Amino acid sequence: MISKKMESALNAQINKELYSAYLYLAMSADSADKGFPGMSHWFKKQYHEELEHAEKIFDYLIQQNARASLEAIEKPTASFNGPLDSFENALKHEKLVTASIYALVDLAQAEKDHASHSFLQWFVDEQVEEEANALDVVTKLKMIGDGNSGVVYLDGKLGKRGDD
Ligand code: FEO
Repeated sequence: MISKKMESALNAQINKELYSAYLYLAMSADSADKGFPGMSHWFKKQYHEELEHAEKIFDYLIQQNARASLEAIEKPTASFNGPLDSFENALKHEKLVTASIYALVDLAQAEKDHASHSFLQWFVDEQVEEEANALDVVTKLKMIGDGNSGVVYLDGKLGKRGDD
């Protein structure tokens, strides 16, 4: 059993996770369009991860006999100014998601909702990985700078995400 306030906050988080999925799918399309198939693949994998995040919360609400409700998903930005801009935006977005997860943890604590608090710990850990993954690519792209061959090489590496 969870409070109505927690139910509503978790539903808002489902929407944020689905928006994240939509944003990464837009980044996947834009990367493909700009000639970076590896990055397109990387963002598509990320899109799938975000769908799983939304589903986890959806399933938790149902398990708690609460109501999962789906709101409209905002239209994401469709075009970015190249790979560095895409990944910098991905990192910025993940920081927002982390803040949102922390707010949920704060609410669970305030309500002494131990079940939701425990459930949310998976997301706290996941956000560390999410930010690190995006930062890793941003750092590499900054090191490469304007070197086209470096970007092509990195694109090939990112195209292998999920193969290991
Ligand atoms: Fe579901 Fe990328 O946070």
